[in-house]
Amino acid sequence: MCGIVGYIGYREAYPIVIKGLKRLEYRGYDSAGIMLYDESGLKVSKTKGKVSDLEEKSKEIASSKATVGMGHTRWATHGVPNDVNSHPHLSNSGKLAIIHNGIIENYEPLKKELIKRGYTFQSDTDTEVLINLIEEVKKKENIKLGKAVQIALNQVVGAYAICVFDVEKPDEIVVARLGSPLAIGVGKDEFFIASDASPFIEYTSNAIYLEDEEMAIVRLHKALKIRKIKDDSLVDPYIQELQMNLEQIEKGGYDHFMLKEIYEQPNVIKDTYRGRLHANEGIIQMAGIEDNIEKFLQAERILIVACGTSWHAGLVAEYIIEEFARIPVEVEYASEFRYRNPIITSKDVVIAISQSGETADSLAAIKLAKEKGAFVFGVCNVVGSSISRESHAGAYTHAGPEIGVASTKAFTTQITVLTMIALRLAKAKGTLSNSDYFRYLQELEIIPEKVAEALLTNDKAKEIAAIYKDATNCLYLGRGYNFPVALEGALKLKEISYIHAEGYPAAEMKHGPIALIDEQMPVIVIAPKQGHYDKVVSNIQEIKSRSGKIIAIVTKGDTQVRGLADHIIEIPETSDALSPLITTIPLQLLSYHIAVMRGCNVDQPRNLAKSVTVE
Ligand code: M6R
Repeated sequence: MCGIVGYIGYREAYPIVIKGLKRLEYRGYDSAGIMLYDESGLKVSKTKGKVSDLEEKSKEIASSKATVGMGHTRWATHGVPNDVNSHPHLSNSGKLAIIHNGIIENYEPLKKELIKRGYTFQSDTDTEVLINLIEEVKKKENIKLGKAVQIALNQVVGAYAICVFDVEKPDEIVVARLGSPLAIGVGKDEFFIASDASPFIEYTSNAIYLEDEEMAIVRLHKALKIRKIKDDSLVDPYIQELQMNLEQIEKGGYDHFMLKEIYEQPNVIKDTYRGRLHANEGIIQMAGIEDNIEKFLQAERILIVACGTSWHAGLVAEYIIEEFARIPVEVEYASEFRYRNPIITSKDVVIAISQSGETADSLAAIKLAKEKGAFVFGVCNVVGSSISRESHAGAYTHAGPEIGVASTKAFTTQITVLTMIALRLAKAKGTLSNSDYFRYLQELEIIPEKVAEALLTNDKAKEIAAIYKDATNCLYLGRGYNFPVALEGALKLKEISYIHAEGYPAAEMKHGPIALIDEQMPVIVIAPKQGHYDKVVSNIQEIKSRSGKIIAIVTKGDTQVRGLADHIIEIPETSDALSPLITTIPLQLLSYHIAVMRGCNVDQPRNLAKSVTVE
């Protein structure tokens, strides 16, 4: 969480940093700050609130001709979101400035030690401790900033992506990373630093992604040198050509990124299977799977680790891999898995699912799995992300940047990748008949058209949203493949509209949640024709008998549920196993419209951040 931006070069830094912060605001948005350095010295402006508030507050320094600057958008960990706790933080001398994404876990003993040496602190943050530790090391050892940063970092425990600036060396910014992402955009006579490449995409397509435990002194007119923080050894910089383009990170006429991303799904699902799915030839080819197929075929089980929406995609994968490939699958919350001393052996294959590829718990879970000898396969969206690099092999989802905090296209593209994996393994194991295998391939190929058709439910979703926008609770029910979709539908509603919502397997309702049902309770039931239709119809009857309000997602042409439900949303037919790709669409739209009607900030819901890089 938190977004960091830095610039050093020949252009005016202020607009670059502010625009960069806006692009990184998805990472955290409870406070923001900027630092510039020009001939009149160091200028800092920071505020509680969003980058737009910072723009308002920093008007006085906006005209600075400074060509070096750093900015930060925060998701608070230590210290409430307020002006003082916002970054950048200055050292006691006022000469060093820092922006930081991460957590310094041992900040308390370090702070006590610094206080003993006469340091004072303005904020409650761990970051202010770090910058003063750097200052103390620099002074005590009488060394340059880079060396002082390195020595100080060797004393801290935690995670960080940092930029450090020293007024005595205004032609350089020292950067370092451990556990939080940091990209360096390399231009001609200029450098950009950011949590991801979006702040500098229009200036350069050359980027270096620092690895964990690496640091660099980004210095004007000098080649970039990357070093290992621990042993000072030099690392060859690997410059990557960026695949992202500007259009992908702008709203493109939509009111919100979330809506744009919902509507992108037909195209991005195609991007996900392009070159991998050859339905007519009966071939699924994914390099990461082909190169490691024996590992999967010999696996005693597949363990899936993930968080949030990615965990829901993992649940869908459990159903589909077990059904198609007959390999036992277990799905774990990464945050639980990493701390519960799980049994993992070299006969396990661990699939980590993560849109960002930076989720701290998922990253820690795969590190643990690797230590225990398991083969780790990453399913990530962000190319070059920590999880994708830490995995032995993997498959990207190719969904393009997902900026709305609520995951939408990440979910459907993850399911697409996982379905292809299940089908490829089924083919290798002979666990699906040839005709079923071909049928699924063909169905998957036309899923984007069906998703496009499901998007036509937008008006209906909006109409229903207007009726239930003031609800205080909501239940989502589904069975089989659509139980994870019920969980995902509930998560979407609660995270962007702040309505309490629960997802349940429809049959579990009678073991408790049915007590909640009265005439005020909207119950969203996912009831496509395939799957356990008759059973779900019985569950709908149970809700009806207790006067619950029923909103049913049904297959086009359904008559039975139409007669029972208060509202129906019709979606195109597909097989049970592929239905989550379709049934999830109206649920995304419903949450979106409810949130908009309630005046919520859809793309930046309160308290959340897009990638959760703290545990
Ligand atoms: O980047 P990841 O897929 O690892 O993120 C996992 C969750 O933090 C994420 O899915 C979160 O639950 C979203 N806000 C859901 O919309």
